[in-house]
Amino acid sequence: MAYGLLNGKRGIISGALDDKSIAWKVALKAKEEGAIFTLTNAPIAMRMGAINQLAEQCNAEIIPADATSVEDLENLFTKSQEVLGGKVDFVLHSIGMSPNVRKGKAYADLNYEWYKQSVDISAMSLHKMLQTAYKLDAISEWGSVVALTYMAAQRTFPFYNDMADAKALLESVARSFGYHYGKYRNVRVNTVSQSPTPTKAGSGIGGFDKFFEFAEKMAPLGNATADQCADYVVTLFSDFTRMVTMQNLFHDGGFSMTGISEEVMGLLAKE
Ligand SMILES: NC(=O)c1ccc[n+]([C@@H]2O[C@H](COP(=O)([O-])OP(=O)(O)OC[C@H]3O[C@@H](n4cnc5c(N)ncnc54)[C@H](O)[C@@H]3O)[C@@H](O)[C@H]2O)c1
Repeated sequence: MAYGLLNGKRGIISGALDDKSIAWKVALKAKEEGAIFTLTNAPIAMRMGAINQLAEQCNAEIIPADATSVEDLENLFTKSQEVLGGKVDFVLHSIGMSPNVRKGKAYADLNYEWYKQSVDISAMSLHKMLQTAYKLDAISEWGSVVALTYMAAQRTFPFYNDMADAKALLESVARSFGYHYGKYRNVRVNTVSQSPTPTKAGSGIGGFDKFFEFAEKMAPLGNATADQCADYVVTLFSDFTRMVTMQNLFHDGGFSMTGISEEVMGLLAKE
């Protein structure tokens, strides 16, 4: 059921790679709630072509941008305003990649060039997006920026590798820029800390399946799905959350606040 939460709003949605992507679900939900938006992803990701299908479904234009390139981001914000007919009201940062994770490098044996790339792509890109938008004054008053993150920023999940450090920086950028953008244009900046979700990025993390199952058994509500994440993100783009900013918001069925569950105790008892 649609509520018209985003009627009249314009936005930019990054990170839709395929129909499992969290950004893909956010795009469908934002469309359903009445928004118009542009879609963006790294030029290399476009080669897979799936995003064209989403663009058609959402009647959205695709503007390729490598989120590590300020030049690409300037083009993204400038073109998006042209295409959409004004400043944007919301931005989704749904971008993450670690060459160390991809190539199976352990945390105690990182390749530092790849480490820099992990941080640049997964965290500094949020600063670059925000700084670009700020300088171009591309986000409307009371606009909303949401970036997706994971709880490995607060607690150690050994398999999450250097992405944990990148997420800690991402959340810090949301707080720091949230202050400056709040003062400048009442724009809010938040991170949503999502449950493990079977996507390309998620499944790439070592031991994902086991961990997904563990989190499912720990969280009193179970794991939050990508569709449920989209529902939550849309509320953060809506006018009903205007005073929420600089927060890291857990969307994880209660996992982050649970010490141990009866289900997990039961599993241990069987051993
Ligand atoms: N899947 C999970 O378990 C999970 C849990 C919590 C948070 N997240 C976060 O959600 C976000 C979206 O990931 P997802 O799970 O939907 O996976 P996904 O693989 O579908 O999305 C990741 C996206 O990042 C894009 N990307 C990579 N490098 C880029 C670059 N240089 N410029 C622009 N875009 C680039 C990819 O093309 C892809 O579309 C990520 O920040 C991820 O860390 C995922």
